[in-house]
Amino acid sequence: MEKIIIFDTTLRDGEQSPGASLESHEKLEIAGQLVRLNVDVIEAGFPVSSPGDFAAVKSIAQRVKGPVICGLARCMKKDIEAAGEAIKPAKRKRIHIFLATSKIHMKYKLRKAEDEIVKLAIEGVKYARNFTDDVEFSPEDASRSEKKFLYRVIEQVIIAGATTINIPDTVGYAIPEEYGALIRDIKRNVPNIGRAVISVHCHNDLGLGVANSLAAIKNGARQIECTINGIGERAGNASLEEIVMAIKTRNDFFENFSTGIVTEEISKTSRLVSKLTGIMVQPNKAIVGQNAFAHEAGIHQDGVLKRRTTYEIMSPEEIGLSASSLVLGKHSGRHAFVEKMKKLGYALNESGTEKAFGRFKALADKKKFIYDEDLETLMDEGAGGFSETWKLLSFRTVAGTDETPIAAVKLRSKAGIKTAEAEGDGPVDACCKAIDKITRTKGEMMDYSIQAVTKGKDALGEVTVRVRSKDKEAIGKSASTDVIEASARAYLNAINKLIHKGNKRLRIEI
Ligand code: KIV
Ligand code: ZN
Repeated sequence: MEKIIIFDTTLRDGEQSPGASLESHEKLEIAGQLVRLNVDVIEAGFPVSSPGDFAAVKSIAQRVKGPVICGLARCMKKDIEAAGEAIKPAKRKRIHIFLATSKIHMKYKLRKAEDEIVKLAIEGVKYARNFTDDVEFSPEDASRSEKKFLYRVIEQVIIAGATTINIPDTVGYAIPEEYGALIRDIKRNVPNIGRAVISVHCHNDLGLGVANSLAAIKNGARQIECTINGIGERAGNASLEEIVMAIKTRNDFFENFSTGIVTEEISKTSRLVSKLTGIMVQPNKAIVGQNAFAHEAGIHQDGVLKRRTTYEIMSPEEIGLSASSLVLGKHSGRHAFVEKMKKLGYALNESGTEKAFGRFKALADKKKFIYDEDLETLMDEGAGGFSETWKLLSFRTVAGTDETPIAAVKLRSKAGIKTAEAEGDGPVDACCKAIDKITRTKGEMMDYSIQAVTKGKDALGEVTVRVRSKDKEAIGKSASTDVIEASARAYLNAINKLIHKGNKRLRIEI
């Protein structure tokens, strides 16, 4: 069996998705879950791009054990130094350098000739080797690069010390057969390629990211760069869960290959990434979409009942989905609650248990049946990574077909309690405007989405908002059986983050 190395770039390329911006503690939480998923490499960020990214990569390098921790760098000394410094605390560390090799990028973006590119690439790799023996090189836009020049760059960076050669399809332009042939040609034409691992990094502009990655495996690639839920720049990256489950489900086709991924953690990881980035998963998304295992047509339902494999090629259990089990209710005690939380993977100390149990009891008063998903949402709710400036104490709304919606909101901060009233287009809008009045912010609602966590009229409604104020943006989240309350709390959560963000320096964009 040959192992396919899974290089997860959710925290780097994934975070480049429009609108996704993760706080350091959120990145750490995702990295922790990637460890449980058992990915081989975590690309934790692009350290030179902002002080926040540097700090996030460093804290992951300090605290996350198991996978190789990787930092991205352009082929520049200051980038390589920042990446080297940020990943320093990690036991296993990698620097990933990129430099474009396609004619269009060299001419218009870099304004450099071929010889200069080769020189810079060699210097960059040699310099990175001062920080770690594990250096990956990416000839950016490789799939649109002239092949002979690509072979030359690859050969030279391997001589300089690169141990992984990544072949990015940066703009998602490749077609599977052609991309597979490119990998095969690199194997045939680069004399020292045997000294490095071939990696692929496929974007999804034509919806072919996964297909291209799989074609590459068949032709010699042994590392796949991918993201949870396929998030990433523009149309995103190849999705981790689709690649992993394709290799697993079609092991008749990929017969000599396996990954080390604990597939039972896929669903949980997908949910966490969606929640923290604020990027919803489309219902028909393969593997992790809400409908991925739903059978609507009568004929299909009948078939599945007679024999599951008539219409299901994977079982939901394989990705960690079990039929929603009724777990707890109003009369459940602390012991049952703690046991259930342990089973769900939460290690709570005494004060954590106290707080979580309090929230559970409050929910049980409003909702008759409490499912695993409710408990997970409850835990996410309580996992604030920063101290909130404003807390919602109470609110009241009046709305109806013949009324102007109005909200009265009461918030508390260190300075005391404040109340405000506002009218709006609806009760949610009125609440947000009242919150703006108290907090003296003018939040612009860029995105608003609501999803029921489980079935039933009393289901928790989980609201995710993206709010902009001046040049800053933040994601806010909250859940409640009352969707107006969830909306007000999510909006306030985003406003608190905006206040907390202060005046961060602008990022360097790739
Ligand atoms: O898409 C791309 O080319 C990249 C590189 C930095 C590897 O993300
Ligand atoms: Zn990319």
